[in-house]
Amino acid sequence: MSDANLLMKVRSALKGVAASSGGDILTLGAVEGLTATSEGVVRFTLNADRAGGDAETTLARAREAVEKVAGVARVAAVATAHRAPSASPAGHANPFGLRDKPKIETAARELQDVKNVIAVASGKGGVGKSTVAANLAIALTQRGLAVGLLDADIYGPSLPILFGLSGKPDVVDGKIRTVEKFGVRSMSIGLLVDENQALAWRGPMVMGALRQLIGDVDWGALDVLVIDTPPGTGDAHLTLAQSKRLTGAIIVSTPQEMALADMRRGVELFRKVNVPILGVIENMAWLESPGGEKTYLFGRGGAEAAARDIGAPFLGALPLDPELRIACDEGIPIARRNPSSPTAQAFAGIAAKIAPVLNS
Ligand SMILES: Nc1ncnc2c1ncn2[C@@H]1O[C@H](COP(=O)(O)OP(=O)(O)OP(=O)(O)O)[C@@H](O)[C@H]1O
Ligand SMILES: [Mg+2]
Repeated sequence: MSDANLLMKVRSALKGVAASSGGDILTLGAVEGLTATSEGVVRFTLNADRAGGDAETTLARAREAVEKVAGVARVAAVATAHRAPSASPAGHANPFGLRDKPKIETAARELQDVKNVIAVASGKGGVGKSTVAANLAIALTQRGLAVGLLDADIYGPSLPILFGLSGKPDVVDGKIRTVEKFGVRSMSIGLLVDENQALAWRGPMVMGALRQLIGDVDWGALDVLVIDTPPGTGDAHLTLAQSKRLTGAIIVSTPQEMALADMRRGVELFRKVNVPILGVIENMAWLESPGGEKTYLFGRGGAEAAARDIGAPFLGALPLDPELRIACDEGIPIARRNPSSPTAQAFAGIAAKIAPVLNS
């Protein structure tokens, strides 16, 4: 429940926090999505461009000011990244013109107890990346690995639904705590900000948000962090690829030609920045009738052939499975809901192929 009284007190505290331009951050409109609950939990996002100066320092001052307000139990606040300056810094390898690289490298260092970082990607949307990432994460825990799952789809987070997560994560000592469910430590932008708020973000802010999901979240020690990426090959992929922290990428595709063409583009991008392709997964490969007859709706074996073409390992095929879809919508992935089902077994098989190539 929100607490209007507390919110007023918090607002006046934020008015005491100066922005670099001279005004205060509240009046300048640099505080976004401010809420205060009756349990004393205060949340907001600091818009770095409006606040000006060093956003992290301003955020720390804002946090401190709010923490002093009577009735505030906890402050969950993040800063967006600065929008990129118009001039591009010249002189270092930067194939995609990504400008806040130094910050990204700082964030990557904070993942030092994470042995492997795997991005699940596809060129095309809706081919099942999020479904694969969620089930694969669970299948990897079933092999005894410590697994994290980061939903990096800033515009369309899926993890809250896939894992049935709700509520806001805790923030302890300025670090966002992961939410643990099904034995997986997970985090999604969907747990931190309003969907509508993120929709208005542009490239650099997306990169900033992603950087925070990596650097401001207490991932702890993990064998593997699985990252579910947005469709296509955009800012999030470039951020990840250039973080120099990716162990490799897994590409999900349906077998039809259109999806495969997009998949090849995705593979190109990762290869350009020297991220190994751990393998290709063919999703929605066939539909099985109750009598056991298989129909290959999108053509047969297309992704496997494409994997061969591009010289990447083929990790396995997943059927179109109504139970898989239902499990997703119910918030209990099939790998957990029905581990002995053929689809869950297919995920186990994929996990078994990936495990040996991971750093131990
Ligand atoms: N093998 C499958 N059988 C049945 N349904 C599936 C299968 N794979 C994915 N789906 C369903 O297809 C839809 C899209 O899947 P999902 O959200 O995982 O795709 P995505 O690639 O992450 O999409 P986006 O590009 O929007 O992020 C979901 O409703 C999911 O439940
Ligand atoms: Mg998705």
